[in-house]
Amino acid sequence: MPFYSASTSASGNRAIRGHIVTMTGDPFVMGDNDVLVDIADGCVVIHDGIITAVGPYDQVKDQIPTGTQIDHYRDHIISSGFVDSHVHYVQTGIIGAFGAQLIDWLNEYTFVAEQRFSDKEYSAAVAKIFFDELLRNGTTTALTFCAVYPDSVDAFFEESVRRGTRMAAGKVLMDRNAPEALLDTAQSAYDDSRVLMDRWHGRGRNLYAVTPRFAPTSTQAELDVAATLRREMPSALMHTHVSENLGEIAWVRSLFPKSKGYLDVYDQSGLLGPGAVLAHGVHLTAQERMRVVETQSAVAHCPTSNLFLGSGLFHVHQAKNPKHNMTVGLGTDIGAGTSFSILSTMNEAYKVAQLTQYPLDAIKMFYLATLGGAQALGIDDKIGSLEVGKEADVIVLDPSATDLLAFRSAQVTSLEEQLFVLATMGDDRSVAVTYVGGEIVYSRDGNSPELKLKEER
Ligand code: GUN
Ligand code: ZN
Repeated sequence: MPFYSASTSASGNRAIRGHIVTMTGDPFVMGDNDVLVDIADGCVVIHDGIITAVGPYDQVKDQIPTGTQIDHYRDHIISSGFVDSHVHYVQTGIIGAFGAQLIDWLNEYTFVAEQRFSDKEYSAAVAKIFFDELLRNGTTTALTFCAVYPDSVDAFFEESVRRGTRMAAGKVLMDRNAPEALLDTAQSAYDDSRVLMDRWHGRGRNLYAVTPRFAPTSTQAELDVAATLRREMPSALMHTHVSENLGEIAWVRSLFPKSKGYLDVYDQSGLLGPGAVLAHGVHLTAQERMRVVETQSAVAHCPTSNLFLGSGLFHVHQAKNPKHNMTVGLGTDIGAGTSFSILSTMNEAYKVAQLTQYPLDAIKMFYLATLGGAQALGIDDKIGSLEVGKEADVIVLDPSATDLLAFRSAQVTSLEEQLFVLATMGDDRSVAVTYVGGEIVYSRDGNSPELKLKEER
């Protein structure tokens, strides 16, 4: 598989021409047509990794500096890169572990696998595989758990700096209810996180996320440490799990008898707020959902994981009720999730929504996968859509990636239908090219002239 290291083209200029599709707002609130930008022959102009113009090719071509390389993708869709709002890079090796629901799955598989990340070399090797998979699938930003070991965090961010990607990650905090080898203490959680946060938050394009695993594996003292860390670095994120599984919820109630419920444990600890991303939230009550909205926290919807672990059905139409609209992104939740592909994740999100009697349309799914994720991470001023001033993380989607997709796509009569077919039938094969910061970091077919007709102006 070709890998192109992120380098800047000589002039720092580049243009990408094709069918531009992007969302500039939340379609659950504003309606699909009000947020959809659909330009059949469009062009994204980039200077030093930042988008300087977007529009119909005929209108922006005069703004393209002489000598700029124009990558022209005929019959391809140009989108903002996908955002994976919740994933565990350290679980890449346990995708498809048979037969268990959340707590048993953690004990039987996850807590065994994560112990291997005490080894920096192993961590670095898995980080490389993880980044290859993300970029092959068109995911240019991810919010990921690392392991409890600081080396696992260094390995991750070192790889991200090499690739030039905008990523968010953090050391897992867990000081109880797991094997001894995986436990930190409230004090070491503070000390290690503080060093890592200072080292990585804002280095390159990276963000640090304070990462208590979930309420059952942190004492109150450690949750307090997490809140202190966030107060000390308010621009860092907070990343955890909530209300994924009914047994888990009952366990939290027994561990925190004074709390009103699961979410309240985080709330009382001062961990909610903008930049707090809560994975799953499948079983949040109406009151808890209101509290997520009030505190401007966000939820990562992880349908392949929720189905795989039998956790339950996330009610996206409740979460995205325009009267009390939650910020929601899509997450793969590898390794409980079963695919790195955000297109496959949309496919399962659609089916989960169907089971809750809500037909989730393609515009809304692409929004959740791009701008929704960026909003969840609080970086929608930087990524998530193709707009002037944003960072040029761009993907090229191929509606004819397979014989069957080509046959099906030949029959679509609207953009919405095309996007829906891509979400239903697409996967990594549908991602032709991935740009990070305006540079090609992945090309499915290499630099084949059939795919990528370079034009010099
Ligand atoms: N809850 C606590 N830890 C985990 C994890 O690693 N994966 C999932 N899906 N849920 C969790
Ligand atoms: Zn998870």
